[in-house]
Amino acid sequence: MALARITVLVSGRGSNLGALLASERAGALKGSITHVISNRPDAGGLALAREHGIATSVIDHRGFASRDAFDAALVAEIDRTEPDLVVLAGFMRVLGRAAVERYSGRLINIHPSLLPAYPGLHTHRRALADGVAMHGCTVHFVTPEVDVGPIIAQSALAVHRDDDEASLAERVLALEHRLLPAAVGWFCEGRLVIDGMRVRVEEPGTVPLRSRPG
Ligand code: GRF
Repeated sequence: MALARITVLVSGRGSNLGALLASERAGALKGSITHVISNRPDAGGLALAREHGIATSVIDHRGFASRDAFDAALVAEIDRTEPDLVVLAGFMRVLGRAAVERYSGRLINIHPSLLPAYPGLHTHRRALADGVAMHGCTVHFVTPEVDVGPIIAQSALAVHRDDDEASLAERVLALEHRLLPAAVGWFCEGRLVIDGMRVRVEEPGTVPLRSRPG
């Protein structure tokens, strides 16, 4: 089976990208991270990609007059990388409907909460404020509505009585670093079947790679 081509989008430090790279380097990922794209020229994830010899590009959202213009430039760049899978790993821009639908079924995101709880920002702070006992992270297929798409996998932890926002974020991040490579690996092996809002993990080779946008 051909290795899936993976393009990763980042906006920040890129620790989830680092976890994917570690998984690839360990031979655990039936995919190849070929490109990293960021909307921020100073993203740590870009430097990390370069250290690993991976092609990078920047589509700086500040250079565009509208969200549609930014999306169009981003889509053109993603298409140029010919991905089988696009991973949003701490990508902090909301993609418009056309961009999301273009990569339907092969665009996934990591979110730091147990969705559908706490979509959006400041998830750890909001979880603490609500006094929840369980918190965690979600990997899901992206649909036009933010943080709502079919859930591939989740990982949960118990909130400690002495947790603050920083400690909770750190402990959830450790879960993210295991969950994202696992979910990306399943995708690359053709194991993820989308059935409405549910995602089934089937035998390897069940779903052919859908390379190259039409
Ligand atoms: C992660 O918590 C991710 O879930 C969220 O943004 C953070 C990105 O961290 N969307 P990093 O850039 O991968 O270190």
